[in-house]
Amino acid sequence: MIVYDRLKSEYCLTLSLLEKEIFGEDAWSEDDFRETICCDYAYYLVAKDGDEIIGCAGLRNMCGDADITNVFVRDGYRRRGIAEEMLKKLMEESRGIGARNFTLEVRSSNYAAIRLYEKLGFVSEGVRPGFYDHPKEDALIYWIRND
Ligand SMILES: CC(C)(COP(=O)(O)OP(=O)(O)OC[C@H]1O[C@@H](n2cnc3c(N)ncnc32)[C@H](O)[C@@H]1OP(=O)(O)O)[C@@H](O)C(=O)NCCC(=O)NCCS
Repeated sequence: MIVYDRLKSEYCLTLSLLEKEIFGEDAWSEDDFRETICCDYAYYLVAKDGDEIIGCAGLRNMCGDADITNVFVRDGYRRRGIAEEMLKKLMEESRGIGARNFTLEVRSSNYAAIRLYEKLGFVSEGVRPGFYDHPKEDALIYWIRND
């Protein structure tokens, strides 16, 4: 059974290694994850299958507008609805820290993630040309606005 847990210190090293596999040079370090734990404006969820960490999604809330980052599900666990469930929980539970509107960036070629976000109700509001490095690529900006 997949469970979703708040980010804890003991998860940070594994998350950074998984990110390195998935996002390469853009991966967060162990310290990047660790620093969010004490932030009252951040909310991070980790998906686990038993003791194994298999996914992550998090956000930082600024005055009700929450920036979602670090969304991934480990290869081998994809297409089972885990990201969808994790993001729904993230958006619901982060109301507790005042998040009302949700935004994120996604690479313009990332078809799987774009489909995921649109299924969840995110609407594309623009493009940030050349936003990403490694490789250079445009970002699509998505929002769910509840205000
Ligand atoms: C994007 C990602 C997080 C999706 O995780 P997932 O757990 O496989 O997604 P889900 O199973 O919850 O899929 C939910 C919906 O997203 C869409 N989707 C997910 N993967 C898809 C794919 N490979 N192709 C097309 N649509 C896809 C579908 O609409 C799917 O609904 P459906 O199964 O009813 O068709 C995962 O592929 C991943 O980790 N990718 C690498 C990291 C990444 O790109 N992160 C996003 C950065 S912005």
